Amino acid sequence: MDAKARLPIGMFDSGVGGLTVLKALKERLPCEDVIYLGDTARLPYGTKSPQTVARYAVQCAAELVNRGIKLLVIACNTASAVALGPLREAYPDIPVIGVVEPGALAACRASRNDTIAVIATESTINGGAYQRAIHSISPAARIIGHPCPLFVPLAEEGWVDGDIPEAVAARYLDPIFKPASGTESPVTPDTLVLGCTHFPLLAPAIRNVVDPATVIVDSAATTAETVLSELERLSMRRAEGECGTVHYLTTDDVARFARTGTRFLGTAIGESEVELVDL
Ligand code: DGL
Repeated sequence: MDAKARLPIGMFDSGVGGLTVLKALKERLPCEDVIYLGDTARLPYGTKSPQTVARYAVQCAAELVNRGIKLLVIACNTASAVALGPLREAYPDIPVIGVVEPGALAACRASRNDTIAVIATESTINGGAYQRAIHSISPAARIIGHPCPLFVPLAEEGWVDGDIPEAVAARYLDPIFKPASGTESPVTPDTLVLGCTHFPLLAPAIRNVVDPATVIVDSAATTAETVLSELERLSMRRAEGECGTVHYLTTDDVARFARTGTRFLGTAIGESEVELVDL
């Protein structure tokens, strides 16, 4: 096997949200080693300016690239929206994959009425990255973007089911899915994109407030598929049979990363697996 194929995949997010992408990646590529960086000291990215997020993303990527990686996944929608181009330019020898394009592709594949709602952080919605990515695949699509910033701390706190998250979800989503009578009623979206890596944890609460026929998509699975095909295209997939490891890096409290990360990943993260880094 080529020496490069043995290198880990690098992934980063503003915090633990990107672990939903790691989970999907490990399901498809269990043999790959991964270094995952959660920039928890500076979370949230979603309320910060594009310039600040791009600067943080460059620092996260540099930390991973300096450790030696074969492919970089920006496992954060907010960072993907502003830093995909700059990071591809900065590292022409390393494939860089963001989560926005895969999420847009999943939405276009799912929608039958070409009407797609996207919920994400303020920064992702205001920057229009999903709108552009969806229109590049499906130019006639009607897109309704809505920021849902409160979902991020709810997911971090583990308040993902029951009355409170459902009330928050209804407050955000009712104007899109249940327009008040008397208002002009455009076509209701048949597809809802969870355009933030934190939001899959709230999917059950969100599911309870939208039409049952709505297809809810997130980019985790499609991103993992994209990574798999890119590794195959470049003959950089690690040999089957070896069991991949994950090394975690965090920029703040190790114990908190392990605790909240365990919820996002769905399997236990031990504190001894997490290294504190200063970017
Ligand atoms: N993980 C980020 C994203 O996917 C959301 C959390 C944040 O605001 O930093 O956009």
